[in-house]
Amino acid sequence: MGVIGDPFAEQMLRPGWAKAASILRIPGLGRLGTNRSFAYLGARTCFYDQFVTDALDEGVKQVVVLGAGYDSRAWRFARPGVTFYEVDLPTTQADKRTRAPEGGPTYVPADVTEPSLGESLVTAGFQAGEPAAFTAEGLTMYLTEEQVKGLLGLLSALSPDGRLAANFGVGFEQQGSQRGRVGRRVMAAGGEELRFRLTPADAPGFMMKTGWTINELLSGPQLRDRYLDGTKLATANVTTSGFAIAATN
Ligand SMILES: C[S@@+](CC[C@H](N)C(=O)[O-])C[C@H]1O[C@@H](n2cnc3c(N)ncnc32)[C@H](O)[C@@H]1O
Repeated sequence: MGVIGDPFAEQMLRPGWAKAASILRIPGLGRLGTNRSFAYLGARTCFYDQFVTDALDEGVKQVVVLGAGYDSRAWRFARPGVTFYEVDLPTTQADKRTRAPEGGPTYVPADVTEPSLGESLVTAGFQAGEPAAFTAEGLTMYLTEEQVKGLLGLLSALSPDGRLAANFGVGFEQQGSQRGRVGRRVMAAGGEELRFRLTPADAPGFMMKTGWTINELLSGPQLRDRYLDGTKLATANVTTSGFAIAATN
């Protein structure tokens, strides 16, 4: 699509998804991957990439990728002396590891809603109290408000000199419509029920309560304007309910 090239992610995709991705490379069919959801995801990917590279450039040695899924930053941004910790549910992580390339992250199979997450990270080698960069990409909407609060508070306590990137809200824009209801039912059936919604207006207060101060908040259109200029992605009507934040504590 012209946003990033990611051979690592391609290798890790489940066979069905790999097939779907290969269809997009058939001449004339690439347009199937240029809808507004892909545009938001493409821009969001660039936002998190920048967050991680900025942290590494500023000397952060620990990156914790929460709800990592098939994230490939541990490979794409590997640097000597830097450890990436990937946290995900055991079954998802086990599936990823069957195809993941050599090297990469320290895997931490854990539920991010459990208070034992901190112990699991420390057991895996995470240095509590040291600077760290946390990413929660595509995660918060699947948790309840209480779970998100608990997680963000725990992260803040784990690294008092920490930084955090997270995104909120996407998927709720067609809440009242038939299409929106069907979409949410399909996602819920696949184990991804949308639960927590936060608006940009409420974000600073919410984050403050969990120990974090937002330094940057970008809406879908702002992410598009910053990252997608010159790409082939459909950039009109990018979601307005989804937004991303970068915060420090
Ligand atoms: C939509 S995917 C996002 C994956 C990746 N961060 C990305 O943006 O491409 C959500 C991920 O969160 C993980 N996840 C959901 N609930 C979780 C929980 N309670 N604990 C740990 N991981 C969880 C899922 O297994 C899945 O990998």
